[in-house]
Amino acid sequence: MRKIERARIKELLAEEEKQFVKEHPRSKALFKRAKSVLLAGVPMHWMTRWAGPYPIFVERGRGNHVLDVDGHDYIDFCLGDTGSMFGHSPKAVVDAITKQVKNGITMMLPTEDSIWVGEELRRRFGIPYWQMAMTATDANRYSIRLAREATGRKKVLVISGCYHGSVDEALVTLEKGKMVLRSGNKGAPVDPELTSKAVEFNDVKALARALKPEDVACVLAEPAMTNHGIILPDPGYHEDLRELTSRYGTLLMIDETHTLCCGIGGYTREYGLDPDIITMGKPLASGVPVAAYGISQHVADLVREHIENDEDESGIGGTLSGNALAMAAMKATFQKVYTQKNFDKMTPLAIRFHKGIEDTIEAEKVPWQVTRLGIRIEYSFMPTAPRNGAEVDAHHDADLEKLMHLMGLNRGILMTPFHNMALISPCTSRKDVDRHTDVFRESVAALLE
Ligand SMILES: Cc1ncc(COP(=O)(O)O)c(C=O)c1O
Repeated sequence: MRKIERARIKELLAEEEKQFVKEHPRSKALFKRAKSVLLAGVPMHWMTRWAGPYPIFVERGRGNHVLDVDGHDYIDFCLGDTGSMFGHSPKAVVDAITKQVKNGITMMLPTEDSIWVGEELRRRFGIPYWQMAMTATDANRYSIRLAREATGRKKVLVISGCYHGSVDEALVTLEKGKMVLRSGNKGAPVDPELTSKAVEFNDVKALARALKPEDVACVLAEPAMTNHGIILPDPGYHEDLRELTSRYGTLLMIDETHTLCCGIGGYTREYGLDPDIITMGKPLASGVPVAAYGISQHVADLVREHIENDEDESGIGGTLSGNALAMAAMKATFQKVYTQKNFDKMTPLAIRFHKGIEDTIEAEKVPWQVTRLGIRIEYSFMPTAPRNGAEVDAHHDADLEKLMHLMGLNRGILMTPFHNMALISPCTSRKDVDRHTDVFRESVAALLE
């Protein structure tokens, strides 16, 4: 294996930053102006987490391309980190939105589209009853409330290294085997011991120990982790997870928000999972804010009476949830873009993208690995695929990550800013994939010079 020198990373970073600043004067000026009015100079603070000294400001996004205000065109593999997984502004969705905008955006009354959407969700995910929310965060929050109501229990078990949105119960992590609040979490003033438990992914023994006291309302988990790099479940993990949750009366809540990348019914359909509750958001309406959560017959029987007869707000849903515009956008997304036909097109390109990275890692003998999950691909600076969040943390290299992103950015490639993750869209071409491979190869070669 070849070693990458720290000094070389620093040297390249300085060069790339210089180039970035030289080529993005208009973004620089806009950032300066924005800082006088927007906290951190952006409308949402994560937008500062891109690799450059300031974010690029966008002129427009179309298909799998983003054009910035300095006139640079990028091949977009970030795709709004999943919100635009099917490309920016797909025509069928734009047409449906345009029509609905003229006929009422939000009435706090159902449209027929919402029934179509519910039926389609049931058909794809095999879960009988559905509710809508605006974001995946909210779908998770509301589902936790339902799980507590259904079980009469307070605690939520999450996987260390997970991310499910700004859900207080899930903003915990394991440090040396002890559960602590995630650093920087501006959480509710509640002792997490009262609300949460955490175990490492793929650790069935710890899971069994944590569920045994029968005080956990639900396990909230991604079926494969995607927010700490991609971490795949061990063979048999999901069977054990299902068996243990059933044995101890805990509901199994699967968050499919990112794993929708596995196919038209997410990981659940692809691998035959059997959750009690399922949550999802982001790309469901091609970027128009919408999320959905579904519950099994068993959970519905336990909560239905309260929800249907409740004269209070129940703490689930909101004024804009299930609005007419979101329902029309979601229907068009399911009908025309989140389709098997598109997956048949995207999957071979995802395989090609993965192979381009894998071949380079092998040829250059760098101690890195690459993992694919459907049409999502991620490489990391460790020699073998991780099995849990702790292994990912042990190999985290912030400077190297920043450099790889910046080298991409300066050469017209956008990757998801938080880690080395890429998504393939229906608009992505073979040429786009090969361009990424060339840039990746060039970046690795520069590091080894
Ligand atoms: C698995 C998962 N669930 C939920 C969320 C929250 O999504 P949103 O920020 O759209 O509410 C995220 C965000 O990254 C996520 O990755």
